[in-house]
Amino acid sequence: MNRSTKTRYIIFQILVEVFKKNKNFETVFNKMIVGQDLHQKDISFINNVCLNSMKRHIHCKLILRKFIKSKLNINQRILLSSAIVQIIYLKVKPYAVVNETVNVAKKVKVFSGFVNAVLKNILNNIDKVDKIQINLNDFPNWFVKQINHSKNFNANKFITTFCDYPSLHLVFKSEKYLNNFKEPHTKSSKNSAFIESQKKINSMSNFKKGEWWVQDFASMLPLGITPMIKNLQILDMCAAPGGKAFQILSDNKVVLNDINLKRISKLQDNLSRLKFNPEIKNLNGLNFDENDKFDMVILDAPCSSIGTIRKHPEIFFKSKEPDFATLNKLQKNLLQKSSKLIKNKGKIVYMVCSFFYSETIEIIENFLQQNKNFKIEKYNPNNEFSNIKHLISKEGYFLTPPTSYKNFNIDGFFSAQLIKDD
Ligand SMILES: C[S@@+](CC[C@H](N)C(=O)[O-])C[C@H]1O[C@@H](n2cnc3c(N)ncnc32)[C@H](O)[C@@H]1O
Repeated sequence: MNRSTKTRYIIFQILVEVFKKNKNFETVFNKMIVGQDLHQKDISFINNVCLNSMKRHIHCKLILRKFIKSKLNINQRILLSSAIVQIIYLKVKPYAVVNETVNVAKKVKVFSGFVNAVLKNILNNIDKVDKIQINLNDFPNWFVKQINHSKNFNANKFITTFCDYPSLHLVFKSEKYLNNFKEPHTKSSKNSAFIESQKKINSMSNFKKGEWWVQDFASMLPLGITPMIKNLQILDMCAAPGGKAFQILSDNKVVLNDINLKRISKLQDNLSRLKFNPEIKNLNGLNFDENDKFDMVILDAPCSSIGTIRKHPEIFFKSKEPDFATLNKLQKNLLQKSSKLIKNKGKIVYMVCSFFYSETIEIIENFLQQNKNFKIEKYNPNNEFSNIKHLISKEGYFLTPPTSYKNFNIDGFFSAQLIKDD
């Protein structure tokens, strides 16, 4: 198999595995490229085509429907969609894409004459497909249901921007490290910046010295806009791989916990690079000893991760929908457990990388109804963050869908601060 066919074959295998086994893209990608003797250029190409095929999968479905009346099997659909993405969205030379897709079709037992004919037909009618528009009803039913349940959500804006490329954003241990940073960047606060460099993360300025970490601007804001009192006893209940914890470790005594050992190992790698050495626990947060009391519990709860759709486009591509019943129950229970672990006047910071009502405001309203000794402390950004005030709701929640800031793309995110007052 020549290199071009091999890269397309790997793309096909990755996409099939993510879809059929409902797995995370990054895990499948890392497994599939090991030992394949690929050039860096091929690895980047595979990554790019896979991410865009997942991102554009709803667009591709509509395009294929225009040209094929019969129902496609999953191998046909994945093969044709990744070819359409290469031609229309990545502007790869069409003849190369058609040839290589036909070669892969022969290898995976999809009728190659059919693939050839469909792609040629699409190429002959390219003006009909290259500006195809999707609308809310083209999305999976579970998404439409969640959106209909989420008040004031601008679905049109989401639909036209969810395919945009995510921006890279770094948070620095302190202002002086950002001032010494050599790569082209735009500051987002005194110790954070959007990066314009195309370099790999681990070859950027002072990565090995542990002066910064990767963290989305939106996910940095809840702790970033809160004036942090020093010397608090803090529990980060769901800490791995660590962004929120790194924001507070310099000034406080923080216990980091996570249920997932693999993610703890990533957390440990990050901590040793950043030269932090906190206590780490590997518990189900629901089993935490209630005799331990903290000034603050950070609960960055497991969720659908819909806010990170630009970085993780597999959410709409996977064969199974997020298990909302299980997630919502866990979010509620972890929040209830957090309330048992704080001192009087202590604070819970609840966060999720989601904007769905069911994972955000509904969880908080439900908690407040059952826990009358808690109240919301409104987010109130200081002058440094005066231009993100529109991301704070009238109730004082931090809530944003995936959006942009200073022309860079940021994730969707939610956070609420709850104060205990017995
Ligand atoms: C949104 S991620 C946390 C991200 C992290 N705070 C950061 O800033 O990098 C949610 C984490 O919750 C962990 N988790 C899920 N269920 C848990 C449980 N019952 N107890 C503790 N951790 C849990 C997952 O392993 C995952 O690492």
